[in-house]
Amino acid sequence: MNHAFSKTPAYADSPWQGTVLIDQSVEIARHTYRVRFRAPEIARRVVPGQFVMLRLPGMLDPLLGRPLAVYDVLDEQGEPAVLDVVYVTVGHMTRQLAQLGRGSLLEIWGPLGNGFAPDAVGHLVIVAGGIGQTPFLMLSREYLGWRTYGDPPRVVPRAEQVTLCYGVKSKPELACVDDFRAAGVEIRLATDDGSEGHHGLVTELIRPVVNESTSPCRIVSCGPEPMMAATTRIAKELNVPCEVSLERPMACGMGICFSCVAKIRDRQGNWDYRRTCVEGPVFDAENVEFEKA
Ligand SMILES: Cc1cc2nc3c(=O)[nH]c(=O)nc-3n(C[C@H](O)[C@H](O)[C@H](O)COP(=O)(O)OP(=O)(O)OC[C@H]3O[C@@H](n4cnc5c(N)ncnc54)[C@H](O)[C@@H]3O)c2cc1C
Ligand code: FES
Repeated sequence: MNHAFSKTPAYADSPWQGTVLIDQSVEIARHTYRVRFRAPEIARRVVPGQFVMLRLPGMLDPLLGRPLAVYDVLDEQGEPAVLDVVYVTVGHMTRQLAQLGRGSLLEIWGPLGNGFAPDAVGHLVIVAGGIGQTPFLMLSREYLGWRTYGDPPRVVPRAEQVTLCYGVKSKPELACVDDFRAAGVEIRLATDDGSEGHHGLVTELIRPVVNESTSPCRIVSCGPEPMMAATTRIAKELNVPCEVSLERPMACGMGICFSCVAKIRDRQGNWDYRRTCVEGPVFDAENVEFEKA
């Protein structure tokens, strides 16, 4: 496996695969659900930014699994034993998943992908659009010193501050904000219709946050590609390092099918296709050739 494009070690070389029982499934915002199931083999190993593939057993439509970020791993005792996945219903799999209740079966494999680099940072600035906040709760807890993740646990230097800039179309779509607040994250919200927070694009929040910051910033971003492309441009102008997590459609999640490739530039400026499921989904933003910029 070629990891030249990733700063994090390979965690996806031996994913656990199995069938799990849904413990909880709740609607947490408009068209947005959180599903919880026990999967200690994954929960113990996963690092922030990694994902799992979920498949509905016995289903021909969809036949393939779907990639979803790991949102949280802590059970009621605070131990890494469960997986929480937060998703928005957009199509075949997610709409059917939302109909399933406690006791239903799911096929799962993971943890997959590289995750965010554990680089030192003074002020971590998260830029999330739509359902793009999901990879960042664990990352926030890690940088604020609440938890370690991975097996063996990875060491992440503590940040002075973590800010979540989070934008959605309208207030009813805001999901998980209280979890971030409880983790000590400073919250800046934006809505397209002005129903909550800044009336406008989430990317308009970046400059004020970075300019007001008293410590060196690093940006991490996930959401629609045009938003991540804009975030990348702003980060470059502000001279702030930036990583993005690409949400490309995936079929296998394990490097076999090449359905997930993205154009990534190397140090010489030449681009090549890289599989976002193994060499990503997290990439240095300045190396990404965005599709819908
Ligand atoms: C690494 C990774 C992590 C992700 N984490 C989350 C998460 O935490 N929560 C969440 O809600 N979603 C997440 N996604 C996106 C999620 O995988 C898709 O929404 C899901 O596959 C849709 O499946 P579906 O069968 O419901 O939709 P489909 O019936 O397959 O498609 C419905 C519509 O959604 C579009 N679509 C499907 N997949 C994607 C995609 N990856 N990006 C953009 N458009 C897509 C299709 O083109 C189609 O228009 C993640 C994707 C990746 C690659
Ligand atoms: S999803 Fe199959 S190679 Fe990435």
